[in-house]
Amino acid sequence: KIIVMDFGGQYNQLIARRVRECNVYCEIYSYKRDIEEIKAMNPKGIILTGGPSSAYEADSPTYTKELFELGIPVLGICYGSQLMMHLLGGHVCKAPVREYGKIEVTVDQSSKLFSDVSEKTVCWMSHNDYIESAAQGFVVTAHTPDCPVAAAEMPEKGLYALQFHPEVLHTAEGTKMLSNFVYNVCGCKGDWRMDSFVETSIEAIRAKVGSGRVLCALSGGVDSSVAAVMLSKAIGSQLTCVFVDHGLLRKNEGDEVEEVFGPSGPYDLNFIRVNAQQRFYEKLAGVTEPEKKRKIIGEEFIRVFEEEAKKIGSVDFLVQGTIYPDVVESGVGGESAVIKSHHNVGGLPDYVDFKEIIEPLRDLFKDEVRKAGLELGIPEHLVFRQPFPGPGLGIRIIGEVTAEKVKIVQDADAIYREEIAAAGIARDIGQYFAALTNMRSVGVMGDERTYDYAIALRAVNTIDFMTAEAAQIPWEVLGKVTSRIVNEVAHVNRVLYDCTSKPPGTIEFE
Ligand code: XMP
Repeated sequence: KIIVMDFGGQYNQLIARRVRECNVYCEIYSYKRDIEEIKAMNPKGIILTGGPSSAYEADSPTYTKELFELGIPVLGICYGSQLMMHLLGGHVCKAPVREYGKIEVTVDQSSKLFSDVSEKTVCWMSHNDYIESAAQGFVVTAHTPDCPVAAAEMPEKGLYALQFHPEVLHTAEGTKMLSNFVYNVCGCKGDWRMDSFVETSIEAIRAKVGSGRVLCALSGGVDSSVAAVMLSKAIGSQLTCVFVDHGLLRKNEGDEVEEVFGPSGPYDLNFIRVNAQQRFYEKLAGVTEPEKKRKIIGEEFIRVFEEEAKKIGSVDFLVQGTIYPDVVESGVGGESAVIKSHHNVGGLPDYVDFKEIIEPLRDLFKDEVRKAGLELGIPEHLVFRQPFPGPGLGIRIIGEVTAEKVKIVQDADAIYREEIAAAGIARDIGQYFAALTNMRSVGVMGDERTYDYAIALRAVNTIDFMTAEAAQIPWEVLGKVTSRIVNEVAHVNRVLYDCTSKPPGTIEFE
């Protein structure tokens, strides 16, 4: 396996993901991990990540120089490359010209890392410091007009340094460079598959849980379904799945979830459905601030679980289907700022009544979760379900949530989904849904003045839900959806299409 040592960079999970895409197993550890532990894991290669600090400052994250003497190949990326040079006697300082964004890098020397990479290649840079001169024994293999050492290496020791970020897709040939590192430098075979992830996770869950009792939060969405089925394979009847119908689900969704995961479905999950609609509506009455709504929904969720857990008897673990983008955006994943408190992550109250939380999908991106789902034998129509956020329609109703508004957005959304399916374009769109804006406007219907709500339609294409762009839905489809919504859904007289990408928007409205 490859070990990624985390120095606080923004793209660390992307590095791990790219390595996994090479079919090589990869784990991330903090730079605080002791070298003895790292040695004991016997990795085939180590990647040092980027990070916000300056390698030459006294209190910056650092590591023992011994790392470079283990005979294990090391690739330093950005901060990682600067740290490598700093520790080995090169000179790192504030760069006179700070490089940010796509920069053309010139490859000066042939290198195992640059095998099949063009001589001039566009790379993603993001740094304030730079390597002014490489450490003794290193050969400089690439430069840019403002960066004398864009890449350097000491191949006989397996040490490689890259100032730019090969893990980011803006680095045109970055994937090639990383695969060169794992195959050509580290000698990995590339025989790891998602089924190994599933197997390893199942083993790890068994070891952790022992004979404990586990309660799983099942929402029926892709993430929690994959987590639940994984848990059920690991520990069978020690698992109980609780499905909370918080009254913020899509139209008929509560019943559909019960059909698939309930006692009459193919899984043995000790499925319990809790109808808690009224409770949630009461808590949400009068609340308009998005973060507050998210927190209320998250907390109420946990309260309902606690109550169920008490009924079941003692419960040791709580399972959640948190995936990586949820972790980053809630600001728990390293240095990144809080964008939204994702349900079940940042929204988790401190006084939860369980011994521990198990999050088997915490390191995966959505498409990887789907692959894991297929490996687990979950049917395709469930695995390729649209993502649906934990707080549900609560964050698709801008402003105050009421039962009446839930009904409006449910009906509009059902029409939208029906028409997308009828047009045969469902699989081409990453995520699409209707939201209820807080705007009312004047219309005319049957010669009468109306003063009603506007529905916003959202559809985005995305690979990993970290960035997204508005999908180009055929005008005829939008037209049909619009006329059906204003005709069939009471209190809606206008339909708008959201053209915003992420960033600057987010996928959901709140
Ligand atoms: P945003 O709106 O943050 O959405 O661009 C990115 C993806 O995450 C989903 N999402 C959530 N999923 N709990 C979840 O499980 C949440 O609180 C949550 N908020 C957003 C969203 O639907 C999209 O797929």
